[in-house]
Amino acid sequence: MSKIALITGATSGIGAATAHLLAANGFDLILTGRRNKRLVELENVLSSKYKAKCLLLCFDVTKAEQVQSSLHSLTANWKAVDVLINNAGLAVGLESVDSGEIEDWERMIDTNIKGLLYVSRSVVPWMKERKTGHIINISSLAGKESYPMGGVYCGTKHAVEAITQAMRIELLPYGIKVGTIAPGMVDTEFSNVRFKGDNERAKNVYKGVTPLSPADIAETILFVITRPAHVNIGDMLILATAQGSARDVFRNP
Ligand SMILES: NC(=O)c1ccc[n+]([C@@H]2O[C@H](COP(=O)([O-])OP(=O)(O)OC[C@H]3O[C@@H](n4cnc5c(N)ncnc54)[C@H](OP(=O)(O)O)[C@@H]3O)[C@@H](O)[C@H]2O)c1
Repeated sequence: MSKIALITGATSGIGAATAHLLAANGFDLILTGRRNKRLVELENVLSSKYKAKCLLLCFDVTKAEQVQSSLHSLTANWKAVDVLINNAGLAVGLESVDSGEIEDWERMIDTNIKGLLYVSRSVVPWMKERKTGHIINISSLAGKESYPMGGVYCGTKHAVEAITQAMRIELLPYGIKVGTIAPGMVDTEFSNVRFKGDNERAKNVYKGVTPLSPADIAETILFVITRPAHVNIGDMLILATAQGSARDVFRNP
């Protein structure tokens, strides 16, 4: 029987690449995001390329009721989620605490912290009932260190790390694995979102550097979720070779 993986934020970047790799490796997938058209396109590709069985749920992770009603609409066989990848997330803006947009802060906190909690609140009880499961929370290098102008995003990812540690301990008696994967710079739509559609500025983030690709992170996720039953990789920091810290990036002129 195929394992079921639920990926939040499957419409782009790391989530989409992970959907491809898991489909290629025989997983059935629950794919979520707000952009339904992209979900449908992804399903079409995955089902024709890999004969993957997909179920699409279009919801906004910041809306607790939407999250709950979408997830609870699943039939019992789809509720048997083996792997939950809490990936949906974003940075919005790059501003100091005294000048940042409050609306940007709300979006980051609501998506990266509350969204992860809302989804987990629905899915974890199903895993507990079955006494099995694996939860991967996508953190960031920003969850390990803070950088100026990114205080709120860093704060949300530090929160992801803290919540993950607590979940891992809470779920010990149920044999459920919990861990974080923390990427450095990955070439996705992340910077386009952060800079609110200023694509030139987004492109500059990766200027003179070979960043990680979404496929690099997907491969790591596949590795982590295919370890033997007694092995839990609790935390993994993955950096581009040219990146030493959030602020130290060696760029070719
Ligand atoms: N790229 C990097 O450099 C980097 C580095 C470290 C960590 N990360 C983390 O990696 C994760 C994935 O980001 P990415 O780089 O792949 O960026 P991305 O290409 O912009 O993808 C973000 C995904 O999150 C979903 N999402 C955002 N807000 C949502 C909401 N309110 N409700 C539901 N889904 C939502 C988006 O889907 P919809 O827009 O369709 O809803 C999209 O599928 C994030 O948690 C990010 O913080 C990224």
